[in-house]
Parts: sequence; C-alpha cells; structure tokens
Amino acid sequence: MQLTDKILIHRQPRTVVFGIGCSRQCAADYAQSGRKRALLVTAPPTLLLAETLAADLRAAGVDVAVWSGVDREPTVSLFAEGLAAARRHKCDGVLGLGGGSALDVAKLVAALAESRQTVTDVWGIGKLESRSLYLACLPTTAGTGSEVSTNAILLDEAEGLKKGVVSPHLVPDAAYVDPALTFSVPPPVTAATGMDALTHCIEAYANVNAHPMTDLLALEGVRLIGSNLRHVVANGLDAAGRSAVALGSVYGGLCLGSANTGAVHALAYPLGGEYHVPHGVANAVLLPHVLRFNLQAAPERYAQVAAALGVAVEPDTVAMARKGVERLAELSRACGIPQSLSDLGVPRSAVESMARSAMTVTRLLKNNVRPLTETDAVGIYGEAFQ
Ligand SMILES: [Fe+2]
Repeated sequence: MQLTDKILIHRQPRTVVFGIGCSRQCAADYAQSGRKRALLVTAPPTLLLAETLAADLRAAGVDVAVWSGVDREPTVSLFAEGLAAARRHKCDGVLGLGGGSALDVAKLVAALAESRQTVTDVWGIGKLESRSLYLACLPTTAGTGSEVSTNAILLDEAEGLKKGVVSPHLVPDAAYVDPALTFSVPPPVTAATGMDALTHCIEAYANVNAHPMTDLLALEGVRLIGSNLRHVVANGLDAAGRSAVALGSVYGGLCLGSANTGAVHALAYPLGGEYHVPHGVANAVLLPHVLRFNLQAAPERYAQVAAALGVAVEPDTVAMARKGVERLAELSRACGIPQSLSDLGVPRSAVESMARSAMTVTRLLKNNVRPLTETDAVGIYGEAFQ
C-alpha cells in the first residue's frame, strides 16, 4: 500500500489515562472540570468497583447516582432504562464502568440523554448529531476497546440482531484504563474478552482499510495479547500480564474507528443476537475458520500476524500464515474456550438463517480482505461445527 492511496481518520479520547491505580484519578478530574452531577453506569458484577468510584466522587463534591442496570445483554429496552436514569438525575456527565456492555450503554446514554434523536434514528455510521454530556469510561475487562472507540452495540430484540452505532461523538472525552480493575475478572471472561481484543487487532491489520498507523497499533496489540493472554487466564493477579493485555485491548479499540473489524465480527453477531453466545466466544470460535477463508487474499498480512504471535519467519508466507491461524486456535483452546458451535448450543439447522443475518452486517463485511457471499458464510459456519 502506498501512503498516497488513502485517507485515514483516526479518532481517540482527548485523555487516555493508563496504569495500575489510575481509576482513582477519575473523580478529581471530574470535580476539577466544574461538573457537579454524574450518572455512573455499571453492571451488578462491577458494583463494588463502582462504589469505590462513587465514594471518590462524593468526597470530591460530586452528586453521583449509581445505575447498575446493565444486568443482562444490553438491549434497546435496557438502554431506555439507563436513559431515564440519566434524565431523572439531571446529570452533567456520564461515567461508564464495566465491560463493553456497560460502556456501550453509558456512551449512548451520554449521547442521547439531551438529544431529540432516538436510538433507532442513529443505527449505522455517522447518524448521531452530537453529544452534549461529558463522558468518561473505565473498562473492567480487556476488552472490547469501547473506552476509546467510536462504536456502541445494542441488541435490537425486535429483530434478534445486534446493531451498531458508529459516530465520532461516541468517543469518550476520557478513558481511564486501570489494569487493576481487571484482576478479579474470572478466567472464562478473561479468555473471551481477550480473544475479542485480539480479534479486533487481527481484523484491523488484515483489512481493506489498513493503514500504517493502525498497523502499528494492531500488530503490537496482537503481540501483547498473544504472548500474555494464557498467563492471565491462569493467574488473574499477574499484574504485568494484565497490564499487557489491557494495553493490547486499548490498541485494538483505537483501530475500531478507522479500520474496524471484518467478517469474524459480522458472522459473530447472529450467534450473539439469536443464541446469546458471549461476543468474545463467538469471535474466538469463528476466528480460525474465517481466517482460513481469508488467507489467500492477504497471505503476507496473515504471515505478519503469525510473526507477532511468535511463529518463526519462513520464506513461504502462506505456510507461515497457516501456522499463525493454528496458533490462534491453540491459544483459544488453551484458554478454555469451546471450539465448536455445537458446544455452544447452536443447532446446525440455524446455519442458513445465521448466514442470511450475517450478510446484513455490511458495515463490517465491506472491510473484509476477501469478499464474502452468503454461500461462503454457510460454509464457514458449517466448518465451525466440526
Ligand atoms: Fe469485538
């Protein structure tokens, strides 16, 4: 690729604070900005962490309401409850603390609490007019990268499909990435969210929108997550490993607004929307199968991914790329993630309808290095049952 070939638009929060213990800075920063009323959006498993932040905020003179309503997969109706909480509290800012679900809800609440637009007005790319409320995100998983990205995903119950809102207004004002917040994440969630972050990096690197700037982030993200995920699944208190995976997750998130993801994510959405397979698990199961399909379209790119995963460099790039894909499958297995769709309760009879549904995710499929038809999607799902 020549630098003269394309235009890159890279977006990121104005402030990214990274490091163990850094979440304790959030309250002072909020108070110092002159804001007085915050809504803290979180989920029941992260309520204790949220209470620490709430106590810090109160001590700093901020009137904070904690809304821990993200107690299930975030849907349009759950989001409406969060929006009502923000309006009730008349907040001047929204803080999201949690995994990707809590952060995505917080982002949309901040954007729509004072807007005349509704969430159905803003599905897709670039529909959101503005965001009037301050927004800061504190991820407790590593992760979706939502704390730095332009994206938010909700399940539209009516259609059984996960839908995305993509907008520069969804990039938070500040992200506090404190690896200590991830220490207590249980192994299966660590594994699934880590594989999601790794998938962001891989899909951003082998992508029609790839750019040297995203390449830099994506490939380093692959290296950081690939070499540390197994350790943090085995030992959640490995501070160095948690920090490396958290940083890799931020790198993956920073690629989402420009390169974004591709067919792995597009094919994963129906598994989440219809069968409630966790997002990271759906990506991990599909990743090797989609990459085997994609490999012929970008063998050099996938060989670089393999090198970042520690595969020895060899002159045959296709063989090297294949070794990288096998290494990914091994990593996923070693992290305890199920390897087959049948292990996830998905019936074989669902393949056709899932393929139809995946083909509607055009905002991601258009980024994929190899064009993918509905028949190809049927084939990939079929292989994921082996
Ligand atoms: Fe993802």
